[in-house]
Amino acid sequence: MMSQEQIKKKIIEYYRTILCREPDKDGIEYYVKMANNGASLDNIKELFLESSEYSILKSTKFLKHAPSFKTSFSDDEVQKMFDSVDGWYHYFKIGNVETTNTRTTMNYQMWVSQIIPTDLNGMKILDIGANDGFYSFLCESRGAKRILAIDRNQPELTDTYLKGENVCQYDTILKNKRQEERFQVLKKILNSKVDYKVMNVYNLDSINETFDTALFFGVYYHLENPVLAFQKIFPKINDSLFLSGHIIESKDPIMYLNDNKPHGGWFASSECLLQIGEKIGFKKCVLLDTLDMNFDIYSRTTDPDMKDLLNKSKIGLFKFSK
Ligand SMILES: C[S@@+](CC[C@H](N)C(=O)[O-])C[C@H]1O[C@@H](n2cnc3c(N)ncnc32)[C@H](O)[C@@H]1O
Repeated sequence: MMSQEQIKKKIIEYYRTILCREPDKDGIEYYVKMANNGASLDNIKELFLESSEYSILKSTKFLKHAPSFKTSFSDDEVQKMFDSVDGWYHYFKIGNVETTNTRTTMNYQMWVSQIIPTDLNGMKILDIGANDGFYSFLCESRGAKRILAIDRNQPELTDTYLKGENVCQYDTILKNKRQEERFQVLKKILNSKVDYKVMNVYNLDSINETFDTALFFGVYYHLENPVLAFQKIFPKINDSLFLSGHIIESKDPIMYLNDNKPHGGWFASSECLLQIGEKIGFKKCVLLDTLDMNFDIYSRTTDPDMKDLLNKSKIGLFKFSK
């Protein structure tokens, strides 16, 4: 049974991830009341997805570049393969079949993908923290000739850990997620040539290869040492790094340590990330766009000022060029 607070949080999440905006007070009250009257959260999510606001959003300039993935498998076969693994992170629609209960929506994924050129003919791409691999497969559909997707081993979230005091909501979301299996399922469905390696970003120097561009989406704030990660990435790329992640609203170059192992890391202001990029050696570092989306679900802070700062945070989309 979910508490009122949990229901409210979920509805706020629907506003942010589906409608890409902050909820209005009346809207929140309306949906909380609906949940209290017996509607399930899945029903409420459906209403968001069927709303005219979402359909207008779907026709935005980013969604029109959404990939139309091809497969030689029938819808039934794709459905079976989707059902063979759980915990989908990325939204995919292949034929008439979709991944369900995904952590991100196509809308969000295409907002991030606005940074990826529509023509990647002949390019070499490194996707760091690829998870289910949406961005890798998107790059392949845009003509990239070589793509390496890496992700670390998922930390072991034992029952003892999940009952312990360090647990945060994000842990329960991640529990039982088998990202490599999901990636391999998609690779098979798409008959893809994308290469996948279980690898920590800190071990990138063991790869004897360079890439035109690296994607570093949604990872830096999970890291204990993001600066070291950027240093490891730098020599592996010839041209640019595309970066997305939570950013704290501040004009100063600050970082906040959310010491919440195994997911917690340093959450930075955009100014901080830009300065890290420049100090590491990138010639041009630019913040291209931002999207409202707080990250208090990761945090256990009791400091009201910090809570406020985290609640007002956004996702930033950056391009660092050599
Ligand atoms: C929030 S998800 C983002 C997934 C995907 N890049 C996206 O933007 O949709 C973070 C991903 O980074 C991976 N990750 C976290 N720490 C990592 C590390 N040290 N090295 C490699 N991958 C890491 C996680 O396993 C997870 O798949």
